Amino acid sequence: MQEHLKQPIFKTLSKVADELQLETYVIGGFVRDIILKRPSKDIDIVCVGSGIDLAKAVAKTLEVKKVSVFKNYGTAMITYQGWEVEFVGARKESYDRGSRKPVVEDGTLEDDQNRRDFSINAMAICLNKERFGELVDPFNGIKDCENKIIRTPLEPKVTFSDDPLRMMRAIRFATQLNFTIEDKTYIALHTEKDRITIISQERITDELNKIILSSVPSIGFNHLFDTGLLHHFFPEIVKLHGVEMRNGLGHKDNFYHTLQVLDNICPNTNNLWLRWAAILHDIAKPPTKRFDPKQGWTFHGHEDRGARMVPEIFKKLKLPLDAKMKYVQKLVRLHLRPIALVKESVTDSAVRRLLVEAGEDVDDLMLLCSADITTKNEKKLKKYKKNFILVEEKLKEVEEKDHLRNWQPPISGEDIMATFGIGPSKEVGQIKNAIKEAMLEGEIQNNEAEARVFMHRLGSKMGLKLV
Ligand code: CTP
Repeated sequence: MQEHLKQPIFKTLSKVADELQLETYVIGGFVRDIILKRPSKDIDIVCVGSGIDLAKAVAKTLEVKKVSVFKNYGTAMITYQGWEVEFVGARKESYDRGSRKPVVEDGTLEDDQNRRDFSINAMAICLNKERFGELVDPFNGIKDCENKIIRTPLEPKVTFSDDPLRMMRAIRFATQLNFTIEDKTYIALHTEKDRITIISQERITDELNKIILSSVPSIGFNHLFDTGLLHHFFPEIVKLHGVEMRNGLGHKDNFYHTLQVLDNICPNTNNLWLRWAAILHDIAKPPTKRFDPKQGWTFHGHEDRGARMVPEIFKKLKLPLDAKMKYVQKLVRLHLRPIALVKESVTDSAVRRLLVEAGEDVDDLMLLCSADITTKNEKKLKKYKKNFILVEEKLKEVEEKDHLRNWQPPISGEDIMATFGIGPSKEVGQIKNAIKEAMLEGEIQNNEAEARVFMHRLGSKMGLKLV
């Protein structure tokens, strides 16, 4: 532990704290991460007195110009050599349940530790010279680190009702750190779940994204489902849960299948949005589900319907409604297409269409497609994997021949207008589309020269004159 405190910044913190005669500690995530041997760049400092005054004095000594002060919260922040250091005065805090407004009073270190979220996040190390490096661990967080346990310092009900976001945090830490949630704490997640509704969606989604970016996100989703928290903010995924039987025929449980696909894709990508595509790829299976006595269960069109559901889900979850959302939509819409290329009868034209539609995201689409193979049946698994390799080869072959990766129209709209001396009109769109179709169908090669000859011919058929 002493090793980590050898950083020059701690020397300064110690010196300034003594000068101001403030009892000062490093606390929370930084201490936890030292013990768990995880890298951390955020330092939380708590002192018995004014955190803002301490921050200002430390900044002066380190010659840091900017101190961000949040008066309402009594906190201040500085950045120094890649460290983000947050200062706060020790507080006694409780919430007026009626108004949800926190009632904050100055307190001791003990008060401050009492109102933290988990035993592993409540450990403090003293920075004053006389006690430098002394661990203050009233809830035996160190033992919980060893035994990999998430536990609240106070009665879980009290800790969670102080800040219900902590229910999401419990599950997030359990997922990130692969810890078990202690029984009493777990039961409180279930009994207190409805209080999550007072938390803003942005904060909930922030935690959800951290779960999704963990190495095995299904751990978190299973806890979210089992405690009932998930039902509050993501009912669409909850609807995937369960198996319906008809004439002795069941379909797979699409909730657990989705979690499997998500876990499968994680070793191959850290891209949050590709992970979101895995979560949403089958999201429209419930509304498209039909039972056909001949075919059994079908989910026709779930890929298109699913893509159309993406914007409303992103909006509700306060995820960005920009190119990232479009990317997720595209992958959901196309997720069945690569495997459909397996049939012998598939033409080069179908392969070209997929390459052009997927554009630069074709590799991500293939990762999703591969993660989507979740069968437990060895024989089927072998067959699907073989098919998948066949598709990869087909894509590669057509790509090498036609250079369609990141395809851009060989002739622009402006070029078409200049060629025939026309203004923006529906003819321009028609010609552009016809060139694309001719290339996809293999009537012309994917190059400007052939496209130009084709355009001239088409223009003359349409009664347009070259200028
Ligand atoms: N904390 C808390 N309740 C919360 C949020 C934070 O008690 N709802 C306390 C915990 O002691 C936590 C510290 O504030 O360790 C810092 O919070 P934060 O920076 O959000 O999280 P970390 O624990 O540092 O973890 P991470 O950086 O992974 O988010």
